[in-house]
Amino acid sequence: MLNPEQVELRLHENGARTEAYLREVFSELPESSREEISPLSDAMLYSLMAGGKRIRPSLVLEACRAAGGSPEAALPFAAAIEMIHTYSLIHDDLPCMDDDSMRRGKPSNHVVYGYANALLAGDALLTEAFGVLSRGLVTGVPAEQVVMATALLSRSAGMDGMVGGQVMDLKTDGEEIDFSTLLSIHSRKTCELILSSVELGLLAAGRKPEERIFSAFDEYAHQLGLVFQLVDDVLDATGDPETLGKTVGKDAKSDKKTYLSFMSIPEAMALAEGMTEKAVLAVASYDLDGFFTGLADYLLKRKK
Ligand code: IPE
Ligand code: IPE
Ligand code: MG
Ligand code: MG
Ligand code: MG
Repeated sequence: MLNPEQVELRLHENGARTEAYLREVFSELPESSREEISPLSDAMLYSLMAGGKRIRPSLVLEACRAAGGSPEAALPFAAAIEMIHTYSLIHDDLPCMDDDSMRRGKPSNHVVYGYANALLAGDALLTEAFGVLSRGLVTGVPAEQVVMATALLSRSAGMDGMVGGQVMDLKTDGEEIDFSTLLSIHSRKTCELILSSVELGLLAAGRKPEERIFSAFDEYAHQLGLVFQLVDDVLDATGDPETLGKTVGKDAKSDKKTYLSFMSIPEAMALAEGMTEKAVLAVASYDLDGFFTGLADYLLKRKK
């Protein structure tokens, strides 16, 4: 498997390719329009280029490579997912949601651009993500796969996916819930976008959902997503804001339901280890260069 430094390097390389592609997409808009709608594109680029870990676009590009495709073909898919993820973070930080003032090591979007512009920057990132998929920027991928990718992404970002998960997350603040409800919140708000990341990568390689590689990567992404949110919740309780680039201690303050509402940190981390093993096992026969195993291990032990 790749060691943590190798995983970081790969995330960095995939992130840089995605960023370069995103800049190209933004440069399509003429300077004159950009001035008229100011500060919209600045607000969008502010959060988009603030240097996230780029886990989701990396999963798109690496899943495409693992399925025998060219990562180049998957770049619009990677860009679209990162746009939707970034929009979800801008909205998640708004005062009407988690009310967080720091994100990706910088003041949150609404702190810099105001609530209305932050809301609209999120709206535009979401809308333009589907533009990237549908206005002919995808080349070298069969049309059938592009349509499927669009449908999968809308499902995973929408009502029964990330947005639905965010609704459940907020409405259960301060409430008693059972453990299966917590898993259902995490599946929607976090696993779904991670799931569609690998699925879009496989589709970009021309693969079909009925192939075994799909169910293998679905299981990997589901387990990885659960671990990802579990570790996010643990870091909210124990992490360092400088390293994380976001505020900590907020979940406890809002009486948010997390794994730590049900168990101790060592118990939660033991569960996370078990889920990581399941993830790794699921894609063992496809993980030719050890990226997926290395990433799962990296995300289990991450401090940022
Ligand atoms: C944060 O996601 C939101 C969660 C789903 C927990 P990331 O931790 O991937 O955020 P960035 O992209 O690195 O900023
Ligand atoms: C958010 O979960 C998941 C999203 C869909 C954005 P959190 O609210 O725990 O994410 P952070 O901790 O603010 O990044
Ligand atoms: Mg939240
Ligand atoms: Mg939050
Ligand atoms: Mg969190």
